[in-house]
Amino acid sequence: MDRRRFLAASAATALAPRVALAQPPVKKLRLAAARQSLVGAAHPATDVWAYNGTVPGPVLRYRQGERLRIEVENALDADTTVHWHGIRLPNAMDGVPHLTQPPIAAKGGRFTYEFDLPDAGTFWYHPHLGSPEQVGRGLYGALIVEERAPPPVDRDLVWVLSDWRLDREASLVENFGNAMDSSHAGRIGNTVTVNGAIQDSFAVRAGERIRLRLINASNARIYGLSFEGHQPWLIALDGQPVSPHQFERVLLGPGMRADVILDCEAAPDSAHRVIDDFYPRRAYELLKLKYANAKPMRSSFAAAARLPANPVAVPDLAKAEKQRIVFGGGMMGAMPRQAEHRGLFWTVNGKPVPEHDHHHAPLATLVRGRSYLIEMVNDTSWHHPIHLHGHVFRIVSRNGNQLPRLEWSDTVLLDPKSRAEIALVADNSGDWMLHCHVLEHQATGMMAVVRVS
Ligand code: C2O
Ligand code: CU
Repeated sequence: MDRRRFLAASAATALAPRVALAQPPVKKLRLAAARQSLVGAAHPATDVWAYNGTVPGPVLRYRQGERLRIEVENALDADTTVHWHGIRLPNAMDGVPHLTQPPIAAKGGRFTYEFDLPDAGTFWYHPHLGSPEQVGRGLYGALIVEERAPPPVDRDLVWVLSDWRLDREASLVENFGNAMDSSHAGRIGNTVTVNGAIQDSFAVRAGERIRLRLINASNARIYGLSFEGHQPWLIALDGQPVSPHQFERVLLGPGMRADVILDCEAAPDSAHRVIDDFYPRRAYELLKLKYANAKPMRSSFAAAARLPANPVAVPDLAKAEKQRIVFGGGMMGAMPRQAEHRGLFWTVNGKPVPEHDHHHAPLATLVRGRSYLIEMVNDTSWHHPIHLHGHVFRIVSRNGNQLPRLEWSDTVLLDPKSRAEIALVADNSGDWMLHCHVLEHQATGMMAVVRVS
């Protein structure tokens, strides 16, 4: 049946509002070593680092406008911090070591994060210190902020995508941050997990409508996901609503999120592949959607509705001040050569900033309340998902072409040798990180500070 007519003819069964989850809210995150079966019972469990004992850490769920208050206890042998990716919060709560707070010390250090949640959407948390190793060992989790009136769905689910480099015993290969990965595409692993385990199948029921919150928590892997036999709707990117549209393939660079409405319109007892084919010669099946042998819950679906907008200030493009930021370096590019830059491979406006540089002189100073149009130029042969803290921005153009939809993001995936313009209102005071979310790139030069004052 023609999809358009199918939608027009829809007289869908009304969906009940989602029942609130019964669990009490999480108030503590404790970081410690743990063991987890990532690849199934045929192999040993893997030594990981975890929040509250599991990878990913607990799903933190709040309502828009609520206040988050979480005590962090660090029982690891390494210092850490927690960054709340995508949340527009006060600078002191942003979790960047030495810039916004001292590190949370190894073996018992504590820190309490407390801030309001202005935007509904799909966000996540992860360390911002020694990130290639700490995230690579399993430290990340979902932070979900529900709309005041969430759109009705049958299930609201999170898929945290992560990728691991494992040996034959399913142990982590411990060459985190090596020069080879750092100067090329970053640490791309050999095992992809969904919510901390390889999943063969994902059980669904014919006729159900699922809100799927996809989070790319991988150090470096980019995903291009398609759902065979289905035409899901994209309703939000990086937690921010988009005009709902059906997609063939959704692209997720490290750090990025997508909210998808998956209508289970295939037949009972059927199975359909979810494919990741971002790297063309290395396409693989992520898992299979496996339909229960049960009567469909409904026979047609209404078009996905637009989520309410978040209270984000809209930049005035006519008055916007222009800035230009050039990302350079990497293999086959202009890598830093001076002796003091040993081990650094990437630059922002010609300068490499090491992760352990605590001086962080700002790359740019923006005036609070003013609109900016920032051209980001990728002068390298590699992909870079560029993330700005404390703000969200509109991607206005790519390679000189205006984009048809002006949507909000906190991370822009730059293709090799490409450029994009982003627009934002600098409305959050403080020193904010701007960096590549390929964590090996971030740690070897591709980061900078943007000051808003
Ligand atoms: Cu998700 Cu600065 O990071
Ligand atoms: Cu990068």
